[in-house]
Amino acid sequence: MFGQNRMGDTVKHYDQLASRYDRLHRRWLRHAGGEAQAALEALVRALAAPGQNLLDAGCGTGHLARSLLSEGMSAEQVTLLDPSRQMLDQCADLPVEKVTGRLEALPFADAAFDIVTCVWALETTTDPDLAVTELCRVVRPGGVLCLAFCADVPVRGLTHSVMRHALLYRGTGRFLSRQRVIETIESQRGFTVRSIPSNGPAATLLAKRCAPVGVSAGSQSKGLNQAPICRRS
Ligand SMILES: C[S@@+](CC[C@H](N)C(=O)[O-])C[C@H]1O[C@@H](n2cnc3c(N)ncnc32)[C@H](O)[C@@H]1O
Repeated sequence: MFGQNRMGDTVKHYDQLASRYDRLHRRWLRHAGGEAQAALEALVRALAAPGQNLLDAGCGTGHLARSLLSEGMSAEQVTLLDPSRQMLDQCADLPVEKVTGRLEALPFADAAFDIVTCVWALETTTDPDLAVTELCRVVRPGGVLCLAFCADVPVRGLTHSVMRHALLYRGTGRFLSRQRVIETIESQRGFTVRSIPSNGPAATLLAKRCAPVGVSAGSQSKGLNQAPICRRS
């Protein structure tokens, strides 16, 4: 099993939570996931460049997109996806494309996005393996997948332990094996993964999809100039 507890469909939980989500989530970020979130946001800011398009899958109330748009990313570049109508309704102020859908069956063509983000959502799905495979599928060669998720790493101190139990008790997510997520990404052709260190029961991963040999990632998008050009295995 991927996580340590079996989980049903969480969408109805998020439908009910939508109006209170931001307040509850701030608590999670303050006490447990803040470093992982900051690491992910720093990655996206460093990699995003004019002209690139970004999918935030499992976008919730649109926290990441709101922050990127406020820093100058163009709304035409951004697509938000979530299965919860109520969560998407909280994104009404964002003039971006919004799609109702699930990570396990992304309604997009292969290689459709330069940057794909999935923040605290992988662990809410019924099939994280399939979700990871789908996320990789929609990353363009030379593009990146940035993930932050609740990870089954040793917790330090009472606060992390309490946050962990609260999440499991509410049934809104679970703690995934970071190694298993890495292995699932690496089993997709052409992906290399880096784990970004952070404190807390969380993981941040940067997965780059190699550009085909001879095609500079930079020729497709300025911000991905540092992406490795590697041979397909
Ligand atoms: C913990 S929230 C994270 C929201 C947002 N990414 C953030 O950083 O605040 C989890 C989100 O995943 C969504 N979700 C639940 N099941 C999903 C699925 N199968 N596919 C995609 N998203 C899902 C929920 O509706 C919810 O909006």
